[in-house]
Order: sequence, then structure tokens, then C-alpha cells
Amino acid sequence: MQKTSIILDVDTGVDDAFAVLFAAMHPAINLLGITCVDGNTNVDQVVANTLKVLDAAGAGDIPVARGAVRPLLGKSQYAEYVHGADGMGDLGIAPSARKVDSRSAVELLRDLIESSKEPVTLVPVAPLTNIALFLRAFPETAKKIHRIVLMGGSASAGNATPAAEFNVWHDPEAAAIVFQSGVPITMYGLDVFMRPGITSQEAALLRKSPELSAQFAGKLIEAFIERLHVSPITLGDFGAVATAIHPELFTTEMFDVVVDTSSGPARGQTICDRRDAFLKDLEPLSLEDSASVRVVLDLDVEAVRQLWLKTIDKGAF
Ligand code: BDR
Ligand code: CA
Repeated sequence: MQKTSIILDVDTGVDDAFAVLFAAMHPAINLLGITCVDGNTNVDQVVANTLKVLDAAGAGDIPVARGAVRPLLGKSQYAEYVHGADGMGDLGIAPSARKVDSRSAVELLRDLIESSKEPVTLVPVAPLTNIALFLRAFPETAKKIHRIVLMGGSASAGNATPAAEFNVWHDPEAAAIVFQSGVPITMYGLDVFMRPGITSQEAALLRKSPELSAQFAGKLIEAFIERLHVSPITLGDFGAVATAIHPELFTTEMFDVVVDTSSGPARGQTICDRRDAFLKDLEPLSLEDSASVRVVLDLDVEAVRQLWLKTIDKGAF
């Protein structure tokens, strides 16, 4: 089987946990490592949460590195109102016996990319601080990145603010560096993020599964539903991992994109030029700041849901 070599960058995070479970368990993914960043919660909690998810996935020895403790310029702004006080549903799971890698996130990225014999796809599902620092620290290694498939941004409305999506809003300067890097980028943003979801009934089935990964996911989803009073609950960040290995399930379009780094109400917005070609030609986006980005606009929701369910619970679904 042809495998895709992936490095995840996470701020685990309930839906990051869905992405980590999937990436660690899918047979067509070679999960080289995971880097952690300040985002939904502080980076030490992100590391602790990520190690617990790898336990639930029954994963082998996948290196996990600690990364940036805050955004490049702004202050940390956590999403505990969504993800819980511990950033991952407050399930009270015992700490993992796994150890964090001794290298920093940027060092781990360098080593994994340099040593990989296969092209490496980066899948950041968190603020882009680590990736921006890596691009600046190791530009020669960065040229070897095959592509970046990221969860972040929006070609429509925001969530953290009316204009901006959380990951980009948390560190817009980092996002601007990544978008302008020249690495091919696919943006899995809020245009599709909420669509593949899991219902409370499905969560109950998962919780009763004999498989640890499914039990863990079921409990996480039930806790999430209880706190937010919405069902179904989105699989969120997992969608970016799915896009990286099953592009045929997603509809995309190329747009010129600029990240707003101003201090105004649009800070963190990913401005996508969706105008007619005629108007674009008359008044292009600033060439200096804009990047040509592949943006996910639609998906086969049921196929994407089943992809996740069948991977984390081989028996029940
Ligand atoms: C993104 O922000 C985080 O809260 C989620 O984990 C996801 O990566 C959605 O805007
Ligand atoms: Ca995330």
C-alpha cells in the first residue's frame, strides 16, 4: 500500500484528538511525528493531551515535540470554553507514560523532513507559530516539504471573530509567513469544517465498542456534546488529515489569499479573492502579500464520516 508520510502540528484540543487518532491508526498514513503548539490551551497541556491520545490509539513510538509557548507577536488566547479546562474534554484520564521528545518542535520538523525518504506532507491543525518558526529557522529543509494541508482560515465567515478563524486569528503573523512561503498549501477551513459530524447516538455506540480508541472517542464526543449542547459534533481538524490522503472526497478551488495582520476588526481574516476574473485583473490583490492557495469548498460528508468511524472502530461500523 502506498503510504503518505505526514507530520501533524496540533493544539490538542478535542477535534485535534480526532485527527491524531485517525492519523495514528490509518494504514495508509506513515505518521512520522507530532509537534505541539500553544493554541486551544497551553503547550504543556497540549503535549500531555497528545500523549494520552497516542495511548488511546495504541500507537507505536511516535515522537512528540513541544513547540511555541505563545504566538509570534500577540498574547495567548485559549479556547477552554470549547475544549474544557484541560483542553480535551476534562475526562480525567491518567497521564501517559510516554515521554516528550527532547528536541524542540522546529528541530523535530527539521530532522524528520531531512531523514524522510518519501515526500513529507505537513498537516497543521493549530495556530501556525511552529510552522512559521521552522520556515524561518531552516529554510533549506523547508524547501523539501511536499505540501501543507492545514486546518485554518475561511473563505466565508470566521468563528473567533466575525471575520477570522481561530487558528489564524491566534497568530496571524505566523499564518502570513506560512501562506507566503511558496510551499503548496491546501486550506481546510470553516467553509467545510463543521460539516462531517458524529451524533450522540453514534458516540454511545463508540463508547460501548471493545476497542480502546473507539471508547476514548465516544467518551470525548459525549463530554463535548454535554458541554456545548449540540449534536452532531464536528470531527473538525480530522478533515484536514482526510484531505491529505483522500483528495477525491473534497472539492477545491484556487484563490489568491491574503492574511489580514492589521489590528482592526478583520485581524486574522484569510481574505480570499473570489471576484470574477475581469475584476481581479482590473484590481489584483497585492502581489507581495497574496498567495495562491487551494481552498476546500465542499466534501462528501458521509464518505468522510465513514472514513473516520471505520478507522477508529474497525468492528462496529
Ligand atoms: C480550530 O480551532 C481550534 O479550536 C480547533 O481545534 C480547530 O483547529 C477551529 O477554528
Ligand atoms: Ca486544533
